[in-house]
Amino acid sequence: MKSSRIPGFYKKTIEERKALITEMHPFTEEDLAVFESVAPLAEDTADNMIENVVGTFQLPLGLGLNFLINGKEYTIPMAIEEASVVASASHIAKIVRDAGGFVTESTERVMIGQIQVVGCSDYTEAKEAVLENKQILIDAANDAFPSIVTRGGGAEDLDVRILNEAADSKFGKMLIVHLYVNTVDAMGANLVNTMAESIAPLVEEITQGKVYLRILSNLADRSLARARCIIPPHLLGTGDFSGEAVRDGVIHAYEFAASDPYRAVTHNKGIMNGIDPIVIATGNDWRAVEAGAHAYAVKDGQYTSMTTWYKDEQGNLVGELELPMSIGIVGGATRVHPMAKLALKLLEVNSAKELAEVIVAVGLAQNLGALKALATDGIQKGHMTLHSRSVAMAAGAAGEMVDIIAQELIKNNDIRVGKAKELVEKYKR
Ligand code: MEV
Repeated sequence: MKSSRIPGFYKKTIEERKALITEMHPFTEEDLAVFESVAPLAEDTADNMIENVVGTFQLPLGLGLNFLINGKEYTIPMAIEEASVVASASHIAKIVRDAGGFVTESTERVMIGQIQVVGCSDYTEAKEAVLENKQILIDAANDAFPSIVTRGGGAEDLDVRILNEAADSKFGKMLIVHLYVNTVDAMGANLVNTMAESIAPLVEEITQGKVYLRILSNLADRSLARARCIIPPHLLGTGDFSGEAVRDGVIHAYEFAASDPYRAVTHNKGIMNGIDPIVIATGNDWRAVEAGAHAYAVKDGQYTSMTTWYKDEQGNLVGELELPMSIGIVGGATRVHPMAKLALKLLEVNSAKELAEVIVAVGLAQNLGALKALATDGIQKGHMTLHSRSVAMAAGAAGEMVDIIAQELIKNNDIRVGKAKELVEKYKR
């Protein structure tokens, strides 16, 4: 792909932007037709995806630009309704790019299937019996979904825990089998659930207990992706704020989130502002990613910041983010939804691992965008223009009137729908 640094992209028309990215990516005629379509997701496709379909729901799809990750250029498809998110991610990506880009890595993509067993007469014996039969259970799991083994993955390991062993526990004892499955390029819910359900009768036979739940865990802590950036302070200065002041403000903001769950939730919401839009655009399950990310933020006992920001010995600002990333590039909606297929083409990722790494890099950028704004001018200033456009539209403005009214609202420092309606009336006359 050509450089994802496209100065002035935001000033171009939608048609010009489409033409530009068409030049950058090897799109087919079919892909281009998706772009041109008023409703890319046909109702009959939607009808085959979920139940009781009566229509489709659209979100704006914007492009996060300037991303350089492990030396590779990325155009980031972001489906989101909130103003300023795409602009902020692109702004930070530009700064990080000038500092050498993001560096990312990830673990193997191992997902966990949980099987709950109750009613064992002796839980310790039942646990031992499961461990003795480990290989038999792993083989049985792989027999239930052989295609994943062909693709280089499959069930690889198994573990057993006994819950509520304490005599005063208010809940009953239970045995939990964890089946570890390398899902390669799939998110894996379907295949892990199939495996867990198929080996459940065998687990009952081995434990002499009764199996209830057989389901994937969304705490995907064996499927982690990490991103890091190192930014010299001279790249951080803005307006009256020196780079050092911005760096220190970001670190103070991080320390606030790291020590206070009330702040951490909002700080992390800002990270998910960058993550969810790609997860959604690529047809992945954003509830799974959200659930896993927030659970991971409490792994040390207190809900805290997902990111870490600190100053290194050279005075650079260093940012890091590690999150479970249960996403895929095959299966589910990723290869059914026409826009998701296009989003994956735009990204030019070759594996789910690579997609997971790109996603955390964008989450890290988004966090820095929010902290940089919060620690300097505040976020309202940046929101003003886009927000005023939404207000103008809500008041009934259309076409070129949207910009004219938005500008007047900003000039009057009164960005309310009521004021915008007055202006719409004024211009009608
Ligand atoms: C708004 O969508 C996100 C922020 O609140 C994140 C943060 O406070 O860090 C700006």
